[in-house]
Amino acid sequence: MRRPIDRREFLKRGGALLAAGALPMSLVEIAFGKDSGREGFTFAYLSDSHITHVRGREFVRNWDRGLIQAVAEANLLDPRPDFIMYGGDIAQLGKREEIDHGLEILSGLRGEVRYVMGEHDYYLDLGEHWRRRLGPDHYSFRHKGVQFIVLNSILTDDDWTHRRWPSAAERMHQMARLDNPQGSPFMVGEAQRAWLRGELEKVDTDTPLVVFSHSPLQKIYKGWNFWTDDAEQVQALLKPFRKVTVLYGHVHQIQYNQIGNISFHSVMATAWPWPYPQSFVQSPSHLPKLTVPMDRANPFFERDGTGWQFIDLHTGNADVHYLLPDNRNRVVAYDTAAGHPVDREYQDPKRRIPPQTRY
Ligand SMILES: [Fe+2]
Ligand SMILES: [Fe+2]
Repeated sequence: MRRPIDRREFLKRGGALLAAGALPMSLVEIAFGKDSGREGFTFAYLSDSHITHVRGREFVRNWDRGLIQAVAEANLLDPRPDFIMYGGDIAQLGKREEIDHGLEILSGLRGEVRYVMGEHDYYLDLGEHWRRRLGPDHYSFRHKGVQFIVLNSILTDDDWTHRRWPSAAERMHQMARLDNPQGSPFMVGEAQRAWLRGELEKVDTDTPLVVFSHSPLQKIYKGWNFWTDDAEQVQALLKPFRKVTVLYGHVHQIQYNQIGNISFHSVMATAWPWPYPQSFVQSPSHLPKLTVPMDRANPFFERDGTGWQFIDLHTGNADVHYLLPDNRNRVVAYDTAAGHPVDREYQDPKRRIPPQTRY
């Protein structure tokens, strides 16, 4: 039976002792489907650090600390994850200093790191510095029988991007706000969708597919840009595949969902939690239908509501293990019988720890 890492064990025992007992079975025992012919593996996922420049070499300490802690903890995973993904929004206002400082912290990670573009990395210089440091903003790679696709999902129309704002800094400020009626919906766009179609034509439809985006490739709440405007068109391209997982950042909270053949999982931010949309607009329809929300973050614990995660692909579907500082860890795993992701332990009212007794 799988058990999430207890965070106290995780941090106190240290790397050498993690191999036995303290780790979830999924890491110790990489139990591949016997007839699949593929090798199981895990990868780690960090996201949304929002490194914020103040002046000179000064940066907002809290956001630095979140990323530093996630890097340190990810380095303790044993066995090692095969690679590490970073889900976007390294920077807060797209400045070179922020991207460079974030990458300096991330350079402490053991293992290969791949990156997704976030809107906070993009809308100052339209991704120029990010691409100079990290390369293309959409690409694909294959690993142990799984096809991975990385998309830049935070583009928007040319009029908003190029003709509306007096300066690049003003454009960045507008897109950096959560609830901005002057914002513009994110999209993958026609050119990238054509590229995606071409990539997918080369892949057998029995191959497990994992797609990384920054904004959700599903429509959750347009008012906060928890949204990708051409989500349905991207979903249609993914439809022929048997096992599809979309992993996204941007929302700074746990969300999971199933639409047709596609499982959706969000990843946590290392910086801060956003509230769930329905808590603001009083409408439950703004949450993916399967999601059991997290408890509200306790403001007295600066890392509560933040976290990072590792993902186990031993079945070809994703089991997402959330490592949550100042909170109980969670596992959202694909349930084959149900045909969608489930957080069984957290959803069980008998086992759930009431929020007021957590601390
Ligand atoms: Fe973010
Ligand atoms: Fe974002």
